Amino acid sequence: MRVKLRNPDRELHVAGPRKVHDVLIELGVDPDTVLVIRQKALITREERLADDDEIEIRPVISGGSNPGMKCKRCRGPAVIEVRRHNASFCQECFEHHVREQVRRAIKSHDMIRPGDRILVAVSGGKDSLALWDVLLELDYRVSGLYLGLGIGEYSDRSGDVTRAFAREREAELIEVDLRADYGFDIPTAGRTGSRSTCAVCGLSKRYVFNRTALEHGFDVVATGHNLDDEAATLLGNTLRWDTEYIARQSPVLPAREDGMVKKVKPLYRLSELETAAYSFLRGIDYVVEECPLVAGNTQLRYKEAMNAIESRSPGTKAQFFMGYLDKAAHLFSSEDRATLTACEECGQPTTGRFCAFCRARAQVLGRTLLAPEDLQTVGELSEEVLPAELYGTADRS
Ligand code: AMP
Ligand code: FES
Ligand code: ZN
Repeated sequence: MRVKLRNPDRELHVAGPRKVHDVLIELGVDPDTVLVIRQKALITREERLADDDEIEIRPVISGGSNPGMKCKRCRGPAVIEVRRHNASFCQECFEHHVREQVRRAIKSHDMIRPGDRILVAVSGGKDSLALWDVLLELDYRVSGLYLGLGIGEYSDRSGDVTRAFAREREAELIEVDLRADYGFDIPTAGRTGSRSTCAVCGLSKRYVFNRTALEHGFDVVATGHNLDDEAATLLGNTLRWDTEYIARQSPVLPAREDGMVKKVKPLYRLSELETAAYSFLRGIDYVVEECPLVAGNTQLRYKEAMNAIESRSPGTKAQFFMGYLDKAAHLFSSEDRATLTACEECGQPTTGRFCAFCRARAQVLGRTLLAPEDLQTVGELSEEVLPAELYGTADRS
């Protein structure tokens, strides 16, 4: 049979007939981390494959339910199994389950108030498109924001699928482009600046999300971070005992009068497997490829470590992160109320004269932000705690 693998794209021939599960094991693929698709339908790991079958093995999704398994909610035939919940669902009930998890996340953390305008940051990946879809389905007032990072074909395709999604649903999409609007792109910034590519990328995203929300009068910025993202970040922060980052790892960061818009992560109760299955079942065309610049990213290593434990003990990931929120988060919380003032370059909130984004941008463009008489303060400025870092996750690689 013909087997199409993704990330990177390649094709293999494997002899049949054989069970999906056996094919995956032979290829060294953890069945809990992939979606197996035949003729545009999800198939289960117990399914038998014929020699002339063609299948696609797509990362980050489970192999579906066992044949004959029934939907936990309606007892109809199941299409997807969520081992963590020890439950299988048919398509309709799975979509209900996903929306229910988002609804619970929003309610339990008071993420969105009645009448709030939400700006959802959309990368073109499965998570943020699923989030946008769910929020629209739940009738929230929500617009999308796409930030063009200038990462070659990857960014072109991400922009295309995001625009197509917005067009199909007649939803508002705001676009910001780093090169057109700020004069640089991420690959250049990674090569020329002093920060790592991912660090300058994360900094730019946080800056543009907050600024766009402020300028367009949105009340909340929502991102597509899922349970796997949050568990991996928490694992990394814990391994380093980075207590300041641990303290800030909340699904909600409240707004601040001095220029910080509220940030929420409504998918934190859903695994990568669930958001990928949701997008697939909803027919959402999303970018499967990962950013080509993240190879070797530490975050990916923590995800792999978590998945290794999860495959032996389903539920560990959720216990780790949800347990942190329930039992440990309050032990780390601290009031960080560094006063924010307007950046002298762009007007956005900062603890110093210039915000971290303007300083990074100036460095990439080879410009100086300081008058010559100010140069002696450069040393102090580089030591300050900046709101972008204060409000970001630890994406240092
Ligand atoms: P990442 O930092 O790539 O893990 O993405 C985390 C979240 O940030 C995603 O779920 C999106 O909500 C948002 N995001 C990432 N990249 C972009 C982008 N280019 N434009 C808009 N939002 C993005
Ligand atoms: Fe930011 Fe790849 S998406 S470096
Ligand atoms: Zn600035």
